Amino acid sequence: MNEISAPRPNNLDAFWMPYTANRAFKGSPRMLARAEGMSYFTNDNREVLDGTAGLWCCNAGHGRREIVEAIQAQAAVMDFAPTFQLGHPIAFQAAAKIAEHTPAGLDRIFFTNSGSESADTALKIALAYQRARGQAQRVRLIGRERGYHGVGFGGISVGGIGPNRKQFGAQLPYVDHLPHTHLPAENAFSRGVPAHGAHLADALDNLVALHGDTIAAVIVEPLAGSTGVLVPPAGYLQRLRALCDKHGILLIFDEVITGFGRLGTFFGSERVGVTPDILTMAKGLTNAAVPMGAVAVHDKVYRAIVDEAPAGIELFHGYTYSGHPLAAAAAVAAIDLHVKEDLPGRARAIEGYFEDGAHSLKDLPNVIDIRNYGLVAGIELQGRAGKPTDRAVRIFQRCFDTGLLIRTTGDIIALSPPLIIEKHHVDRMFGTLAEAIRAEAA
Ligand SMILES: Cc1ncc(COP(=O)(O)O)c(C=O)c1O
Repeated sequence: MNEISAPRPNNLDAFWMPYTANRAFKGSPRMLARAEGMSYFTNDNREVLDGTAGLWCCNAGHGRREIVEAIQAQAAVMDFAPTFQLGHPIAFQAAAKIAEHTPAGLDRIFFTNSGSESADTALKIALAYQRARGQAQRVRLIGRERGYHGVGFGGISVGGIGPNRKQFGAQLPYVDHLPHTHLPAENAFSRGVPAHGAHLADALDNLVALHGDTIAAVIVEPLAGSTGVLVPPAGYLQRLRALCDKHGILLIFDEVITGFGRLGTFFGSERVGVTPDILTMAKGLTNAAVPMGAVAVHDKVYRAIVDEAPAGIELFHGYTYSGHPLAAAAAVAAIDLHVKEDLPGRARAIEGYFEDGAHSLKDLPNVIDIRNYGLVAGIELQGRAGKPTDRAVRIFQRCFDTGLLIRTTGDIIALSPPLIIEKHHVDRMFGTLAEAIRAEAA
């Protein structure tokens, strides 16, 4: 047996950790051993309040009995079955349950295993749709600067985060980007939707002028999370919707983090008042208990691709685990929990208190912007001169050491707690964070 696979205690070598500074982590690991309700517990049983719902995904809180039991029951009945040319009831049940909550018309559900796969699937469906309706020249995909759509080649191509692209060179051809919507000079310290920036959607007109009728789809996050919480300016998404309609372009919303109650409605589309043609989801779909993603597609798109196709397979796309029984069981149980406990309503009810907590940090040292919407807050810090990210990384460590999990992107702190959060958790969260920001003032 070679060294790396030898079963020795504390062997951290074999796991090449994702999106992690591996050398730093393995020199000073942070280990989570258990989770329950609003909290994680470390391997030495120290409680860490979950300010991030894991990775924007455990919206119903951790260790929910109903979801655990549904997974256990399904595993005992049937562990796996293919969905290529075969079906099993729980996958159809999960799709129907999702479709009860998606915006009107978006009731055809394609299953994936992650947000990245959902993004790539949505882009492929958009291309297939344009081809099916006789617009095969529409091969161009438009993303947005600072957008995040996962790590597949499609996702990084339409995504707008430099570090996610620069190591890999080749990306999809025929891609362009809208400008991002971050306008700190006009919108700093906005509460909820910022007032300025609707005009930035008009950049789509410029892209149409440049590329003519070759654009298949535009993909945006209703609220951009991973890039540091960018809340859509008032009227921006409405304008984008109108321009997509005007130019025959499909609008895709990436709702991987805004789905499942995060913005106080079942899907973010409802909160922002704009319905896309295609909507991607993952994360909260199963409360992250089993990996699963899905793409909700407007009936007109499904019909164009499926009903008009010659006999045989209509869409040459799918994953071995599309509609996996354990994931489907977890999705049904998680959605039932959202309904039974009205988790979107709970998020809405505490949003004002959460907003006040976030904005209470305004006068702390180095805080240059605070933004929030639903149960999401972004706190932007002035980075240390010549040491970008250092301040935020050290605040992250301090928070972890004093019992709070936050997330950082550059020098921006993002908070997205489980929707079961109560006022005393909000107080603890912002109290702990304030201490850490003060401690890193220098
Ligand atoms: C908007 C958005 N899309 C896609 C993804 C990728 O999801 P996954 O990591 O499950 O592939 C994420 C992950 O954070 C996301 O926030």
